[in-house]
Amino acid sequence: MTDPIPAQARAANPRLWNAWTSIHEGSAFYDVEGFKAGATSLWPLELEELGPLVHEGTTLLHLQCHFGLDTLSWARLGADVVGLDISDEAIALARRLADEVGLSGRAEFVCADLYDADAHLGSRAFDIVFVSWGALEWLPDLTRWAGIVARHLAPGGTFYMAEIHPFAYGLEEVAGEHDVRVKYRLLPAPDRPDIDPVQGRYADRSAETKDLVAYGWTHDLAEILGALTGAGLRVEHLHEFAASPAPFWDWMVQDEARWWWLPDGEGGLRRDLPFSYSIRATKPAT
Ligand SMILES: C[S@@+](CC[C@H](N)C(=O)[O-])C[C@H]1O[C@@H](n2cnc3c(N)ncnc32)[C@H](O)[C@@H]1O
Repeated sequence: MTDPIPAQARAANPRLWNAWTSIHEGSAFYDVEGFKAGATSLWPLELEELGPLVHEGTTLLHLQCHFGLDTLSWARLGADVVGLDISDEAIALARRLADEVGLSGRAEFVCADLYDADAHLGSRAFDIVFVSWGALEWLPDLTRWAGIVARHLAPGGTFYMAEIHPFAYGLEEVAGEHDVRVKYRLLPAPDRPDIDPVQGRYADRSAETKDLVAYGWTHDLAEILGALTGAGLRVEHLHEFAASPAPFWDWMVQDEARWWWLPDGEGGLRRDLPFSYSIRATKPAT
């Protein structure tokens, strides 16, 4: 089957994620030292919505796991985990961290393009497939993505995803006003990647980054839900939230629970625009 990722993106995106991995390792945003000391990297939302299904020996596949903090946090709760990511630097760091915190016996990390997952995972099927925060934007073809999710879920298994809301990707700031307007494409265009030169990163905006380019794709909720249901999954919930796990602009306001909000201009928080969402779906048992 042809690779849906164009050649330039296939070269540029892993290069970008390798560069970001070393920035992220030392960033306050990822707080690797806190993780090593025992803190979970998972958000209370994920623990609340997926945590009750994770027990000793639950098998969990984490697609686009970055350097594995969330993967290893699920392992700490008893899961036997496999993390998959295209960045070799991220996977190398994930393996080092697993060793360092004593979880390598229950955590395996695979360096592969998402679209090559079948070749690496064979017929392995998991109780849970997990995806989170900033993953789908790197994928052009969600029909194939959802097929991979469904094939690697055991019958009766659960897919869970917590993600940045497609609407938020369409926004730009109104200069000097601490306000936003819709600027970018909101509907999918699989054949037209958004190509962005990169400066800094969400985990550290001041970080030095050189000659890096991101190739991303716009997806909307109809496309995401359509891909999952088309692959045979039954959607249990779609929840939308007005806060983001990372700031889109430095004037966003962080609450005590670490979520970032748009200010409402009167000292409060705007609750009328979606910045994140979560989906839980199951693969029918028969
Ligand atoms: C924003 S990160 C996911 C974040 C993760 N939830 C976290 O907070 O650590 C996106 C990840 O997708 C990976 N990625 C991008 N394109 C990919 C592809 N085609 N196949 C596999 N992984 C890919 C990147 O290497 C990166 O680690």
